[in-house]
Amino acid sequence: MAPPAEPPLIRLRGVSVFYGNRPALEELDLEVGKNERLWITGPSGAGKTTLLRLLCGAVRAARGEVEVDGVRLDRAGRRDLERLRRRLGIVFQDPRLIAGFTLHENLVLGLEACGERPERMGPKIERMLARVGLAGRGASFPTALSGGEQQRAAVARALVREPRLLLADEPTGNLDPASARAVAELLEEAWIRGATLLIATHDPELAARPGGRLLRLKRGRIAVEAP
Ligand SMILES: Nc1ncnc2c1ncn2[C@@H]1O[C@H](COP(=O)(O)OP(=O)(O)OP(=O)(O)O)[C@@H](O)[C@H]1O
Ligand SMILES: [Mg+2]
Repeated sequence: MAPPAEPPLIRLRGVSVFYGNRPALEELDLEVGKNERLWITGPSGAGKTTLLRLLCGAVRAARGEVEVDGVRLDRAGRRDLERLRRRLGIVFQDPRLIAGFTLHENLVLGLEACGERPERMGPKIERMLARVGLAGRGASFPTALSGGEQQRAAVARALVREPRLLLADEPTGNLDPASARAVAELLEEAWIRGATLLIATHDPELAARPGGRLLRLKRGRIAVEAP
């Protein structure tokens, strides 16, 4: 007998999201399985960021069902949300590093939230900073970094936690080709390690990587869904 099919990690049914009375996502149905890699594309304003914000509980659906890693976000309380966020890695469209903290401390915050042992944090953080080309920069404050460096630090902060689910919004948006390639490789490694990735991107090179599924949004609706 075939083993029972694993439930999807993400399941949206008839989801609409509004800002005021303007819809940003309309009647969205979507399933994403464990260890899938989904590229979210579409023109500016199509709803890519809104979809990622919905999946981490930063905006709520006005209608429909939203389930992420077993948590029903359309009816979750604050505690459910906090528990879910500990399992997520999030790279926002703007880097959002915490200004009064060094890079190292920014990464520590993320690791603490998911219960990493203190003695393991230092080496992990150094390794991850090196991977994004920021070796030796752990003592720098975010304001001392360029925009692209801040973005790479934000990617490092999300990935150092080895999240089961990574939501990344334009992770290569501000980067030169070599840095973009380094970030793409890190994302690929996370995927090989078993993580599920949802990546909003305008970067055709990133979205052309094999082994992913493409979701193209247009005015808040799914325009194309392709393997
Ligand atoms: N905080 C907000 N308040 C009001 N409207 C918003 C807000 N955020 C986004 N919108 C609107 O919702 C729609 C979808 O925006 P969203 O940011 O999801 O697009 P996007 O696909 O990520 O675009 P981009 O490629 O420019 O990042 C747009 O029409 C936008 O103007
Ligand atoms: Mg966006």
